[in-house]
Amino acid sequence: MSDVIRIKDLRNRVGQTVSLRGWVCTARSSGKIAFVVLRDGTGNLQCVVSKNEVGESVWEAVKALTHETSVKVTGGVREDARSPGGVELGLTELTILGLSVDFPITPKEHSTSFLFEHRHLWLRSKRQEAIMKVRHEVVQSIRDFFYERDFCLVDTPLLTAAIGEEAGTLFETEYFDLGKAYLAQTGQLYLEAAAASLGMVYCFGPTFRAEKSKTRRHLAEFWMVEPEVAWYDSDDNMRLQEDFVSYVVQRCLERRKTELEVLERDTSRLVPVEPPFPRVSYTDAIARLQDEGRSIEWGKDLGAEDETKVATWSDKPVFVFNYPKEAKAFYMKRNPDDPRTVLSNDCLAPEGYGEIIGGSQREDDHDILLSRIREENLPEDAYDWYLDLRKYGTFVHSGFGMGVERVVAWICGVPHVRETIAFPRQMHRIRP
Ligand code: 4AD
Ligand code: MG
Repeated sequence: MSDVIRIKDLRNRVGQTVSLRGWVCTARSSGKIAFVVLRDGTGNLQCVVSKNEVGESVWEAVKALTHETSVKVTGGVREDARSPGGVELGLTELTILGLSVDFPITPKEHSTSFLFEHRHLWLRSKRQEAIMKVRHEVVQSIRDFFYERDFCLVDTPLLTAAIGEEAGTLFETEYFDLGKAYLAQTGQLYLEAAAASLGMVYCFGPTFRAEKSKTRRHLAEFWMVEPEVAWYDSDDNMRLQEDFVSYVVQRCLERRKTELEVLERDTSRLVPVEPPFPRVSYTDAIARLQDEGRSIEWGKDLGAEDETKVATWSDKPVFVFNYPKEAKAFYMKRNPDDPRTVLSNDCLAPEGYGEIIGGSQREDDHDILLSRIREENLPEDAYDWYLDLRKYGTFVHSGFGMGVERVVAWICGVPHVRETIAFPRQMHRIRP
């Protein structure tokens, strides 16, 4: 297995005879010539078979090939300008490695639920492959962005004793003799402790929310990247967000052209995503939304349709800042200029993709934080260590969380987050 040849490398082997393995996408023959298209995850390869140049048994085997059969092929690599990878293979030998009979996913239309029940096979389709590659680019660009800026990665626990965001969407499990543990809704609280050690930190991992909503933006398990920065206030935080989001989008435009073409993404909608992003206070946003006929009242979090409306105010993502404290989590810093609000922001993506980031400056005053914990009826003893951070050298700090699936959906232009993760976890879906 050591010298595995991949389709993407064939351009450097023009004139050589090679053997490689892959899966059959299509096979068709007419008269004395047959065309077999193989894929191997790195590209597609057209194999040309001419009846006169191969033995009878190879010819018969080629004619019997079916969709998704795994094969080993041998042949000469030839330049071919019309092929996607610039080369084709003059097939001389064929070995069937694994037959595929009646592959369930055919070129005809399938229902969404059928496709998700066959997610393990559906992942092989061109479109799904393209989405996974964009996701991979998004994840790598996230890592690169923070590495280049000297942030230290801190992996936070997934089993936790304290509620991170809100009590309503917790997954619970028994934890030995210690009672209930919750699957993490966020790594933030732990990250704040790490920020007091390392200054600029981030965590990146799966996050769990028992969301009973069946919207196109919600998963029960999603990946979130969360930076936390000592001495950053809310304005610094938004500047970091616009640099970050722009970096990720521009990186996909540069390196994932092919995949975005497969997805028929109108990339002209992504080109303008460069800093600075427009900023509108929550209070101003509500006034303008009301002017534009929305019925939202001051004090409520923006609904999906309100977010879509706000996003039409620019061709870039839009920051809405300083939400009412009732609409947001307990840890956000009270706004000294308007104590009804907190120093927070959401970043709303264009084209109806809605909130991709939630962020805030954190409450750094011990007594105010404690009173917020009490107001929200959170179990005080679970937060003793979190309050300690305000007792031993408290510090101005801010951070945010960006949901990977929502960003991938937006960049790919796919309507629903469930297609942007290999095996989505939703209220009514845990298999495959
Ligand atoms: O706004 P959220 O709930 O913020 C936090 O969890 C903070 N602790 C982050 C921080 O400040 N460190 O979630 C952040 C982002 C959302 O903007 C959204 O992109 C994504 O996480 N998200 C979800 N994505 C998919 N499915 C869900 N159920 C999601 N809930 C949030
Ligand atoms: Mg939020």
